[in-house]
Formats: sequence, C-alpha cells, structure tokens
Amino acid sequence: MCGIVAYIGGQEAYPIILKGLKRLEYRGYDSAGIALIDETSLNLYKRAGKVSVLEDFVKTCNSRGSIGIGHTRWATHGEPNDVNAHPHFSGDQKMAIIHNGIIENYDTIKEELLSRGHTFHSDTDTEVLIHLIEDIQKSEKVDLVEAVRIALNSVHGAYAIVVISKDNPNRLIAARKSSPLVVGIGKDEFFLASDATPIVEYTKEVVYLDDEEIAIVERGEDLKIIDISKKEITPYVQELELHLEALEKGGYEHFMLKEIHEQPRSIYDCFRGRLNASEGMVNLGGITDYETKMKNANRIIMVACGTSWHACLVGEYLFEDLARIPVEVEYASEFRYRNPIINEGDIVIAISQSGETADTLAALELAKKKGATILGICNVVGSSISRITDAGSYTHAGPEIGVASTKAFTAQVTVLTLMALRIAKRKGTLPESKYRSLLNELESIPEKVKKVLDQNEKIQFISEVYKDAENALYLGRGITFPVALEGALKLKEISYIHAEGYPAAEMKHGPIALIDENMPVFVIATKGTSYEKVVSNIQEVKARKGKIIAIVTEGDTQVKEMADHFIEIPDTNENLVPLLATIPLQLLSYHVAVMRGCNVDQPRNLAKSVTVE
Ligand code: G6P
Repeated sequence: MCGIVAYIGGQEAYPIILKGLKRLEYRGYDSAGIALIDETSLNLYKRAGKVSVLEDFVKTCNSRGSIGIGHTRWATHGEPNDVNAHPHFSGDQKMAIIHNGIIENYDTIKEELLSRGHTFHSDTDTEVLIHLIEDIQKSEKVDLVEAVRIALNSVHGAYAIVVISKDNPNRLIAARKSSPLVVGIGKDEFFLASDATPIVEYTKEVVYLDDEEIAIVERGEDLKIIDISKKEITPYVQELELHLEALEKGGYEHFMLKEIHEQPRSIYDCFRGRLNASEGMVNLGGITDYETKMKNANRIIMVACGTSWHACLVGEYLFEDLARIPVEVEYASEFRYRNPIINEGDIVIAISQSGETADTLAALELAKKKGATILGICNVVGSSISRITDAGSYTHAGPEIGVASTKAFTAQVTVLTLMALRIAKRKGTLPESKYRSLLNELESIPEKVKKVLDQNEKIQFISEVYKDAENALYLGRGITFPVALEGALKLKEISYIHAEGYPAAEMKHGPIALIDENMPVFVIATKGTSYEKVVSNIQEVKARKGKIIAIVTEGDTQVKEMADHFIEIPDTNENLVPLLATIPLQLLSYHVAVMRGCNVDQPRNLAKSVTVE
C-alpha cells in the first residue's frame, strides 16, 4: 500500500504533489509527507494523519520548488507517527526517499550500516534503504543512479521508490519491484506516481515501469530507463484512457455512494461490445486464445482477497452450473503458502480490482511456476496482475476510489457470468433456450439495478432502525451465500459493527446461539431453488425473537409477512441474483456508517490496494 507521487518540470511542484497525494489517499492515510528542493535547500515536511493535516502544517512553511516527492502511508514498519512518516532523509540530509513496499532484509542491512557508523531516527525499512544508497555512493565513489542500482541489487522484497538529491536538483531517480509505478511524460515535465490518477489531468502519455527497472527523469532530457543489471530499456509509451471526471465525486457526498449509484452504467460498460442477446453472442476478446484450454480444463482455481474473493465464490457457482467445470476458490494468501497441487490442464484465474494485491500476485506467480495457465480479471488497466497473466478480461468499471469495493464487485461478477456463458456455449453444456434467456436477462440487469437504487429512501429508513446494533448476521444459500458474506464485510469494514455471513442452513450449527431480540438478521430470500429452505431458516430466527430484514423478489408474499423489514428486488434468473441482491446491502452499510459518523471512504486501518503480504 502507500501512495507515492513526484514531480519535476517548470511548474510549482507542491500543489501538484499535494493534489496527487489526495488522489492516492485510498492507498493509505496513516501519515503524509513531502520533500521539495528550493534552490539550494531540501525542505522536508511530514505529519502523522491524513494529507489534510500535512496541508495545514505546510501552510506556514516554504513550499516553493519545481521538483519534489510526496508520500501517503499505510504503516507496516513502525507506528504511524511523524518520525516514521515518509520521506526519509539520508544521514547527511542531502537526499530523501519515498517508498511503497517492504524491504524484507532491512534488519541485516541496518546492523551492517550501524556498525559503519550510521544513525537512524525512525523504525522504518525505508530509512535503511536511503542510508544504504548513501553509503554505497560514498564508499564506492559512484554517481547516484549507480548507487541506487547497486543498493537495489542487495535488497529483498518489494519497492516503488523515488529518490531526490539536492546535489542534483534537475533529476529524480525512481525504481520498482512488485509495487506499481507510472511515469507521466508532459511537455518539459515528468510525473511519477503509484497509479495514473495524479497524472491524468496533466498528460495522457505514460510509461508503466516493469519490475527491477530504474527510471531517470531529468530536466531537458528524454525519459531514460535501465534495469538493475544496467541494461538499457526502451520506454513503451501508452495513452491513458482515464478521464478526470471519473476521479471526482460528481455531486455525491462520498465516493462510495457515487460508486454504488454508478452500477447500472458500470455493469453496462462491462458487457458493452461483449454481449449481444438478440444475436446470441457473448465474446471476451481478451481470452479468445485460451477458450479451448478453459473448455478442456480439469478444473479452474480462482484466487483473490477480500471482496474479490466473494466474486470468485459467485464465479464458482456460475462455472459449475453453466459450464460444468469444477472450481476451487482460494484465498490468495492461503493458497501461496500451502504447496498447492496444480496439474497440467489447470487454469488459475486471479480476480482483483486493483490488480496489485500482493498476495494475489504472489499466488499467480506460484501457479505460473508450477505450469498452470494464469488468467486475470482486473479493473485497473496496466496493473501488475493484468501484465503478468497469460490473458484476461478487464472489468471496465472505471476508477473505484471508496476503500470499500462496490461497483468493482458487480463488474467482476458480470465478467465471470460472461466467461461462464461463453465457455458453456463452447462446451455445449447449456440448452440453447437457457443460454438465450440468460443473455437477455443479463442485458436487462442495468435497468433492474436502477430499480433497486430507487429504493434508497426505504433502505435509509431501515438503516436508521438498526444503526446501533452491535452484531449482525447475514444469511444466504447457494449463489446468494457469497452475497451474505459480501453484505457482512461491507457492514463491518465501514461501520465497525461486527457482522458475519453464513450459509443459511449452517446457522443452526453455531450462530443460532447468538440470536435474541437485539440481533438483526439480513436474509437473502429471493425466488429460486432454495426459497422454501430459506423460509424455514427465517422461521427459526423468528422463533428466537431475532429481527429479520429480508431481500425478496418483487411480488413475494410469504417472506414479506414474516419479515420485520423487507427490500424488494426485480425478478431475474437465479444465476444473476447476486448482481441485484448485493446492492441494497451496499446501500444499507453506507447509510449505517454515515449515521454512526464513520469515515465511509477511508475506514480506519484499511487501504484499498494492499501491496503488502
Ligand atoms: C482490500 C480492499 C478490498 C478489496 C481487497 C482486494 O482489502 O479494501 O475492498 O476487496 O483489498 O483487493 P483487489 O484490488 O485485489 O480486489
């Protein structure tokens, strides 16, 4: 996690970096800092807390300079205080560094440097790295680029770094391994950032650095890239497709609310050009070359973390039901440390909004090493996962900025539906009539999502009733079980209410003991194969005085009568219910969090892009 941004050019660097840090705050908001060169002085300011705290502090300081670096932190090594905030100075205070990632062998390096007389002020691995660079530069009498290169050859772990030196106020040196870094190329100016969001309003021309590459950006020079074994690399300049409006709240109070309301559009964008129901066509261009392999796969393993893992669980139902391929869903963090059995003919699909989640990336690398075909479903174009996979499909949901994932989830489920349908068609596992009707239904989902969103006021009212709950239970069955998990995750991550998702029938093996008159139980009781069973589960809750809030299909009568509150969603094919049933649960969590005074877009201790293990 952590966000880094840097600028060199003809403009004042501070406002550009500050704005960039605000855009990157979703990556961490424990502390923020900035270093700028004004003529001969290197000024460094940092503060624990959000970027706004830094901004207030810098108001009284010298923030001039046309070259600078900035950082917003999600703490790994050392508590989130002023001292551990980035940037970090070298021992002689002539250089400063910002870093996203973890230097795993920093302890050994630190001991060596301590024995050579270095003194450290923070508990961070990053300070060790800048001291190492300084030590190499002085002891080996090499220039800074070479010192950075030698230092990076001796560190283990992940890094995206930018180094600034007052001895050369015309140059920034940046490098990456396993943490993202983008270089924006403007007219006589360069931008460096963890993702393209701080860059997009200044230039559309970007270069995504690859692992173990070092970028040297210098006034009056072209971008130069070498790798850590000194080989020159020709920069591959890409055009950004990102639009500035997508990064702003557009009149909504929070990004999360905006992103919830964007879902009719984001689901549509996800299948636009890929689905044509009247012609019976589903086509995902990105995986065309791998369709035969998928069709013949013995099994598919899906790996992910967090909300994306819940999308995998929906994918499991879809692929097994429609394409009749066995699917295993794995937490990426567990999969990679379990010596998993991967056979030839297995396909591993990673699902990730950011495309940067460290555990998911590592799981993919492991699967690749073991010979599996690796595919990706990512939202962020050009992200690490999208680049290391053999093939994949983007979700095209647009930038998701709220830390709690909403529209990325429904877009992931949409892509999984398209994939499962495409493979099912190729395999012949689905009767034509069912295939056609699913295509038609999928095309009508954006309109149906709008109808769910129209119930916002009712959902707000229900939120008011339950906002003071200490616990909550979410129940679903079959394909709506992952929806229950996702509903519970949303509530706990943004409103800090303890919530658990359970398969409805499992309730009687434990959670039922928790039910009393204070326990809200959210039940997805939509029409479908398990409807009658879920009705029985609701009765079990009622018998113990639990409060039922049910998500039901329009026109339902039975559950409505039993429930304390209900929210109706339009009727659809059972396989597509997650695309509708998730939405009232997102809205409910949002309203509860707002009513409890929580920071919806930046919940405590979380970050959107988890680039550490
Ligand atoms: C973090 C975010 C979640 C997200 C998860 C996986 O925990 O807060 O919203 O689901 O990471 O992220 P990914 O980018 O891989 O989908």
